[in-house]
Amino acid sequence: GYDISKLMAQTGDTTFDIGFANTAVCKSAITYIDGDAGVLQYRGYPIEQLAEKSTFLETSYLVLYGELPTKEQLEDFTEKVANHMVIDERIREMFRIFPRRSHPMPVLSAGVTALGLFSQDTIGFDDDRIDAATHRLMAKVPTIAAYSYKNSIGMPTLYPDYSLSYVENFLRMSFGTVSQPYELDDEVVKAMEVLLILHADHEQNCSTSTVRLVGSAQTNLYQSVSSGVNALYGPLHGGANQAVLEMLDDIADRGISVKDYVNKVKDKSSNERLMGFGHRVYKNYDPRAAIIKKHADAILRNRAGGNDRLLDIALELEEAALSDPYFVERKLYPNVDFYTGLIYRAMGFPTDMFTVLFAIGRLPGWIAQWREMIKDPANKIGRPRQIYIGHTERDYVAMDAR
Ligand code: ACO
Repeated sequence: GYDISKLMAQTGDTTFDIGFANTAVCKSAITYIDGDAGVLQYRGYPIEQLAEKSTFLETSYLVLYGELPTKEQLEDFTEKVANHMVIDERIREMFRIFPRRSHPMPVLSAGVTALGLFSQDTIGFDDDRIDAATHRLMAKVPTIAAYSYKNSIGMPTLYPDYSLSYVENFLRMSFGTVSQPYELDDEVVKAMEVLLILHADHEQNCSTSTVRLVGSAQTNLYQSVSSGVNALYGPLHGGANQAVLEMLDDIADRGISVKDYVNKVKDKSSNERLMGFGHRVYKNYDPRAAIIKKHADAILRNRAGGNDRLLDIALELEEAALSDPYFVERKLYPNVDFYTGLIYRAMGFPTDMFTVLFAIGRLPGWIAQWREMIKDPANKIGRPRQIYIGHTERDYVAMDAR
């Protein structure tokens, strides 16, 4: 309702760019995206190769340090992370005070904030401290995440098991109980490795930009990452995977035909969208969705707790959308969230935990971006401008005259 050109004239050289849709805020050597071609690379390595051949810890090292680790470097990194998986007993006790059924995302954020308080010896900007804080976060965030889940279901927490891999240990802490050991399934472990790798970084998305903006004030790594967790919590960002599953459940429960559903989302007056479709940057198939789709089939078919019916609906929706001129003309393809929720549910996670799993995956990206920014001599505090649309100057009015 206001005249943009008039407002622009007031601001001189300031660029008016709501949502930073057209603004690059930094130079970065971490992640490359070509949205038209559907390409995603970490440090130059295609996501397809990393998903097939790497592990989450190895990819984290790559994202953090810029190169694939040698055998010794990976062993050293793995050991440093493993050594820090236990959290201080007082932080563990803290989980008992949150209400039962608290959403695990704010609990995760509180846990990361508390971790900063308990890690004062690693707070600072010299390389050793930054590395120590990096190891602690990589080690302890999955522990805090598993505890946030246990808290949400009112179950006691388990201590980490050093004999297991990073992903195995997280699955065990989430699903194991004191009296019943968790039986690891190779296919589930591999799928979780892949899902975490696919989420490891995605350049200047909302939560990563938040980590950079908070860190640009020279706020320490823990508090910057905790802010990233809060940004990810929002349904327009990390929460979309949950919305896809709710949509599939709704279609299944109400017995709506896929054709009718697609017609409904095309009708703007319905105000509904095909969740898990479309992306600000990708105008082609999201390369992460293509990889996840393959794993969804392996995990969901012929498995207790799997859900073939919802997968069938998802596949039918995709087929119907991709052959429909509405989606073709607007270049709307499945994004990363379209198939992830189906796999998470088949693994046994409730919808509330989906965004927490995203956070564990995105952690190396947040840390790497903070490290890159802190060491960049060109770094400045983030401080956007605005276009003022309020009152012009006026005199104070006494209380009895208002
Ligand atoms: N279903 C139906 N129509 C859609 C969809 C969709 N999922 N996505 C976009 N459109 C239509 C819009 O109505 C618009 O049509 P119009 O040109 O006739 O007005 C056109 O496609 C362009 O859409 P915009 O909203 O302008 O695109 P934008 O880049 O701003 O939004 C977004 C991208 C938010 C991802 C959008 O596609 C969407 O809402 N998708 C569904 C939610 C979702 O899956 N989010 C997860 C994103 S991935 C992530 O964050 C991890």
